[in-house]
Amino acid sequence: MATDEKTSSNQPTASPALIEESISSVMTEKRKFPPPVEFSNSAHVSSMEEYEKLYAAAAEDPETYWAGLAEQFHWFKKWDSVLEWKTPYAKWFNGGKTNICYNAVDVHMNSWRKNKAAILWEGEEGDQRVLTYGELHRQVSKFANVLKIAGIKPGDRVAIYMGMVPELVIAVLACARVGAVHNVIFAGFSAHAITERVNDSRAKMVICCDGTRRRGSTINLKKIVDEAIVNTPSVRNVIVLKVTSETVSMHDGMDHWWHDLMGLAMDVSEPVEVDSEHPLFVLYTSGSTGKPKGILHTTAGYMVHAASSFKYVFDIKDEDIYWCTADVGWITGHSYMVYGPLLNGATLLMYEGAPNYPQWDRFWDIINRYKVTILYTAPTAIRAFIRAGNEWVTKHDLSSLRLLGTVGEPINPEAWMWYHRVVGQEKCPIVDTWWQTETGGIMVSPFPGATPTKPGTATRPLPGIMVDVVRKDGVSCNANEGGYLVIKKPWPSMLRTIYGDNERYEKTYWSEFNDMYFTGDGARKDEDGYIWIMGRVDDVVNVSGHRLGTSEVESALVSHEAVAEAAVVSRPDDIKGNSLVAFVTLKDEYEGDMKLRESLRNHVAKEIGPIAKPDEIRWAKGLPKTRSGKIMRRLLRELATSNEVKGDVTTLEDFGVLENLRDQEDE
Ligand code: WT7
Repeated sequence: MATDEKTSSNQPTASPALIEESISSVMTEKRKFPPPVEFSNSAHVSSMEEYEKLYAAAAEDPETYWAGLAEQFHWFKKWDSVLEWKTPYAKWFNGGKTNICYNAVDVHMNSWRKNKAAILWEGEEGDQRVLTYGELHRQVSKFANVLKIAGIKPGDRVAIYMGMVPELVIAVLACARVGAVHNVIFAGFSAHAITERVNDSRAKMVICCDGTRRRGSTINLKKIVDEAIVNTPSVRNVIVLKVTSETVSMHDGMDHWWHDLMGLAMDVSEPVEVDSEHPLFVLYTSGSTGKPKGILHTTAGYMVHAASSFKYVFDIKDEDIYWCTADVGWITGHSYMVYGPLLNGATLLMYEGAPNYPQWDRFWDIINRYKVTILYTAPTAIRAFIRAGNEWVTKHDLSSLRLLGTVGEPINPEAWMWYHRVVGQEKCPIVDTWWQTETGGIMVSPFPGATPTKPGTATRPLPGIMVDVVRKDGVSCNANEGGYLVIKKPWPSMLRTIYGDNERYEKTYWSEFNDMYFTGDGARKDEDGYIWIMGRVDDVVNVSGHRLGTSEVESALVSHEAVAEAAVVSRPDDIKGNSLVAFVTLKDEYEGDMKLRESLRNHVAKEIGPIAKPDEIRWAKGLPKTRSGKIMRRLLRELATSNEVKGDVTTLEDFGVLENLRDQEDE
């Protein structure tokens, strides 16, 4: 899996037209899995009573709760106030001075962790590297000096466009060390996307690799950067890390080799003492209209929540080998590949390449060889593994695993069950973590030693996180009534604004429900207070007066034995208001024919009810996805309605898939 940019359907649209009557939830999942006793016994939080106590205390006095977590970090100067809140602008730990790189790396220099592995890296071709915390400290300090010599000052923006190599982590941490604001751009993006992001953030420097490997071939990243920076007046220098053996063109005065500069740099550098609210990074996520939004996160609040949520949700211990398969180009990579793990002194695994290279068992082979204990991946990857077949998984010894995680989309209960049975061998709790680029850290998730899980729900909010499901007038929904997911109180790792555009920030997140942050997601809360995400509100469809979350219909389809993946969209219909069109990818051994179409329709009718029966089913060899694996339902909607796609397709990963999805005659 690589993780990618949001599609239009992942944005709050702030359009009142969408906020209509309530949403009918039709999911009837009843299975429940208590945490294994052995897991609970050694967990940081080992019972629901303990969780409830923490939650209640945090709800009663959030500032004391967050301050307690913040105490655990190194502060050059302690804060004056925990929270200053003028809706919708927050200042957390104001008056304090700290440095997140110091807390992630330097603090380990005076303990045994100095020689502990920080990063276990594996390249796509099988090459391996290990960086201890001590070595990471040395490299980050040197690269911080490189940045300083190149004239980077606190507050300057630095764009980073690199493949998944340890130097990407080093570059990110070095920026934080000198107070520069990093802007990581996923290495799968085009020159145009780089230009847009660099110009919006007015980045002074670009750090890139000469190239990156993907499924056995090399992509020349430097060439893409050359093309991008023709139109970026703010960029003064490009630093190029040599990864491949291919020749790239270097421009005098502008381009510098990473190794040349590192060769000259000293390995001692004092971290800059920055204010708590000093900007830490900008990360772009695309909007439904207009240019991508630069989500701005600041230092101290982000640090406190990224670190503490990592500790509790992943129940991290010093012995763990933790693997997050996301790319650092996405928020998951920022919070739970770099900052969360390092702030906790954990050992993380970083893999450069594709999950199916050279074969479909690459992940399971890695888990066995490194004895990975915690795996954090995405539903799209899980569904791809299901499709590839169990034997790729079961031929490897996965007994080291003790905890599994998922993020990015609602996980279909059947995919959850497969993850639980085949990968977790029924002994690993699954943490289904709900959050967003904007939230900076996990908001809703089980505590793995405490929370009984149910397939398909992210369960309960973390202590200090006040989420609710509300009607369009902001009043809380009843149990099991579908509505809009909001966050009622500020939290430390919340976005501070959209870079350079306060107006858009206010309109997108704060205009729909007074004084509450609108997530853009539809959800329901069940009788246990568990949150079931029903997808983006833009993906809610109205059929015969019932508003249905398309993800629920998709889950019903995926629970049929023949189905690997499904996407459901609506098409205007004179009679029903809307009719449902399902795009279905079958498991390899199944053939799409009329009989199967009928069988799928009946299956949905049985699982949900006749109202949710798709009116049309189209067979899809593949579905149009963003590079992070999110299905681009907007394109499918266009296809279902007009049989062609006119909208923006720049974030689409594989253009070929659209061709196969046009009208199909019943065979
Ligand atoms: C949107 C945010 C947060 C890291 C990756 C995505 C969806 C995310 C879940 C989950 C159901 C989920 C939501 C959310 N989403 N996690 N566990 N269950 N839906 O970050 O690109 O900012 O996307 O992803 O719709 O709003 P992002």
